[in-house]
Amino acid sequence: MQNPIPDYLHEVLDALRDDTSGERASYIPELADADPDKFALAVTTAMGSTYTAGDAQDEFTIQSISKPFAYAAVIMDRGLSHVLEHIGVEPSGEAFNELSLEDGTNRPKNPMINAGAIAVHGLLVGEEATGAQRVDRVLELFSRLAGRQLSIDEEVFASELGTADHNLSMAHMLRKHKIIADDPHEVVSGYTRQCSILVTVADLSAMAATLANGGVQPCTGERIMDSAIAQQVMSVMAVAGMYDGAGDWLTRVGIPAKSGVAGGLVGVLPDQVGIGAFSPRLDSHGNSQRSRLAFERLSTDMGMHLF
Ligand code: DON
Repeated sequence: MQNPIPDYLHEVLDALRDDTSGERASYIPELADADPDKFALAVTTAMGSTYTAGDAQDEFTIQSISKPFAYAAVIMDRGLSHVLEHIGVEPSGEAFNELSLEDGTNRPKNPMINAGAIAVHGLLVGEEATGAQRVDRVLELFSRLAGRQLSIDEEVFASELGTADHNLSMAHMLRKHKIIADDPHEVVSGYTRQCSILVTVADLSAMAATLANGGVQPCTGERIMDSAIAQQVMSVMAVAGMYDGAGDWLTRVGIPAKSGVAGGLVGVLPDQVGIGAFSPRLDSHGNSQRSRLAFERLSTDMGMHLF
């Protein structure tokens, strides 16, 4: 019997294809010039089967979707208690690019906002790590999570770094508060390379399915992280993955998720599936408009709401 899932994914894309609302990110030419009509979906089950529909061969930059997976890396590298001393796990209730430091501790409120993600990147590997070692670490880990060798879009990286003043200013504040130790330029450069890693929707669904599967990559069978780390990452995605819209997202869609400014969206349903979606036009919150609608539809049709 033919598997009904790919047909269903095509149906979801076809039902939403006519929605052309929203705008592409405009702060760098590579994102402003992206083909706005691209639309793709992928689901990877915790048993290791992947189903795709639409423009699933197209690569795009991972951007903020890198944040939960870099958070997993830093917990592996430095231990959870060390990471918690530097970065909190509370929703910020503010936009992703606000500084959002906690009163008293000066920790960024969570690792999903830019301040927290820059701190995560700065703590990768170990105290004496170089910028190159931190970038190698995320590229190596993301590749194992995706189940194939990933690469960096050097043009996006160069453009992003040319417009990184806001992230640089936050990195300087983080060093002032001793959250990061290295040169802020070096840390932001590495964080920007992390955001410029190229992925497909199937890479995202496989990465998320590894979390869903308690840290074992379901296609390669490799244990990549302890189940406690996967649990920590999924919990923080639920709390803060959709930034100041996290509560609305969790109540309506019920799938812990993370969005990226290139139009990607990743979601994880513990013990069940990882989901990847891509469509470049963004809604007023900066989340991919059609990817968001696709998630809403999957949640309703397939009963994926966690609660
Ligand atoms: O740090 C930045 O500004 C970008 N490279 C990533 C931002 C992003 O994806 C925001 N999320 N939706």
